[in-house]
Amino acid sequence: MCGIVGYIGPRDATPIILAGLQRLEYRGYDSAGIAVIQHGSIVVRRDVGKLSSLVDLIRQQPLNGQIGIGHTRWATHGEPCERNAHPHTSANGKTVVVHNGIVENYREIRADLLAEGVQFASDTDTEVIVHLIQREMDAGHDLAEATRRAVQQLRGAHAVVALSADEPDRLVAVRIGNAGGVALGIGQGEMFIASDIPAILEHTRQMVFLESRQMVTLTRSAYRVQTLDGEPVDAKIHSIPWDPVSAARGEFKHFMQKEIHEQARALTDTIRGRVDFESGAIHLPNLEISPDDARKLRRLVIVACGTSAYSGLVGKFIIEELTRIPVEVDYGSEYRYRDPILDNNCAVLALTQSGETVDTLAALEEAREKGARLWSIVNAIGSQAMRIVDGYIAMQAGPEIGVASTKAFTASIVDQYLLGLYLAQQRGTLSPDAARAHIQNLARLPDLVGQVLERDKQIKALAGELYQYTNFLYLGRGINYPIALEGALKLKEISYIHAEGYPAGEMKHGPIALIDEHMPVLAIALRDGVYDKMLSQIEQAKSRGGIVIALATDGDTEIAAKADHVLSIPETPPLLSPVVSVIPLQLLAYHIAVRRGADVDQPRNLAKSVTVE
Ligand code: AGP
Repeated sequence: MCGIVGYIGPRDATPIILAGLQRLEYRGYDSAGIAVIQHGSIVVRRDVGKLSSLVDLIRQQPLNGQIGIGHTRWATHGEPCERNAHPHTSANGKTVVVHNGIVENYREIRADLLAEGVQFASDTDTEVIVHLIQREMDAGHDLAEATRRAVQQLRGAHAVVALSADEPDRLVAVRIGNAGGVALGIGQGEMFIASDIPAILEHTRQMVFLESRQMVTLTRSAYRVQTLDGEPVDAKIHSIPWDPVSAARGEFKHFMQKEIHEQARALTDTIRGRVDFESGAIHLPNLEISPDDARKLRRLVIVACGTSAYSGLVGKFIIEELTRIPVEVDYGSEYRYRDPILDNNCAVLALTQSGETVDTLAALEEAREKGARLWSIVNAIGSQAMRIVDGYIAMQAGPEIGVASTKAFTASIVDQYLLGLYLAQQRGTLSPDAARAHIQNLARLPDLVGQVLERDKQIKALAGELYQYTNFLYLGRGINYPIALEGALKLKEISYIHAEGYPAGEMKHGPIALIDEHMPVLAIALRDGVYDKMLSQIEQAKSRGGIVIALATDGDTEIAAKADHVLSIPETPPLLSPVVSVIPLQLLAYHIAVRRGADVDQPRNLAKSVTVE
């Protein structure tokens, strides 16, 4: 996903923009660029590859100015190279833009502009935007009006920031659809624009988030938000609670490593303020459901993608157990095209760390049209999934920078637990005693997670024995089957090793043919209701020459006699065991990826927020 940073104020824009882009590197990109107004003219520096190449270029060819925009590009149209990098400049060199999203009708627009004699300098879809803006300015409109008119001609989802040498005291930013966010940072005598909070958090906590089809014109001391129809908007100013340090890596080698080890604290934060340990009452401040509405609820549909979808598979077990409401789980990318059967006695719950995943947001829009209530569990403050629903639970896990999601996954499961308790409480089917017992279990989680994190060295040693294998099988049953899926995804996405998560009971229906000494099998075999079944699974794999890594409950000597390697977790209440059982799998994937020299925080081909289909 591309990154955008803009600045206007009394300071030199270049270092501010570059530092902001560095904080957005986790979003994944393949080129970068910056434009400032220097002595009345637009000056641009761009380079392919990592941001460090752009920094070196600017060191050799400095550019200074007090207003500028920068961009990290994840190529969609046009290969990654210098001339396709943003910012893109109009033919007369007076206007420049950066852009997130895809101009779906760029071919038609490009053909029209070419017919008018416009010269194109790149193969990108984005370049048509700057020429459209310049054409409107040549027709006599100011930058804001020209930008407003230009973006109305685009199809698709966009975030656009424009700058003109003819109006060197302002920036204009626009948001259409879900091509990533547009955050306005309000400083003292200076203003910032960014596609994500961490880029500008060190300068200000006061932020405004553009909604879709809104635009903002900003000078160093003021800003004006309006709709694309020209209506003024009194936009809410959010005060971001995150501190800049928590968005930095600290003493860890990778953001992912930091975020794995932050989970005990993140779970504490996601529970904090939502449970009353005395009365057993659950409070979800941004998700008020009346007892009457709770009793009317006949079905809950969870929609999500990737790791978030796997947290929903766990949530299904939890919410059905706590409420006896049927829960179905579907991928956002499937749900949006499945013409789902919904009515106003159904609720659709989106699980999304970024709050900007286009497939998940589209599934919500589909559900809205069918009359369902919309809820979400979201980490990114101010994101679309937090704003378009009837109610939400903020994960409160703090910024998750590593592309591979870890603390948001476990926070999402706990928040679904809280939702299940809340629904049961509102439906009158959960006694205060039962609620207190559940809350006591929740309160133990951070400590249980912390105990497993202390076993990092043992897991790192095991990774040293496994990192050269090229195929893995992850097996689980019941509430830990989704953890087999998530453990396999973690390994796949950061180490590029092929790994498959599978329901253990399904092995005999085909996949057992895969088992041999080249295919390590990770079997989740906790002391729970499916323990015996998992034991026999381990025996079947061993009898076929398989290498078995068992994830067991502390003190289980029986498994130690059967498996080649054993990782273990403390005894955990079954409904919460996935929150603890996933930790060793996160650490195992992390250490294997590090041993393989992989780019852990920015795996190839991946983005932190998938805002394209
Ligand atoms: C997580 O490790 C993956 N990077 C990916 O599957 C992610 O979970 C998915 O893209 C959904 O993202 P979201 O939670 O921000 O909606």
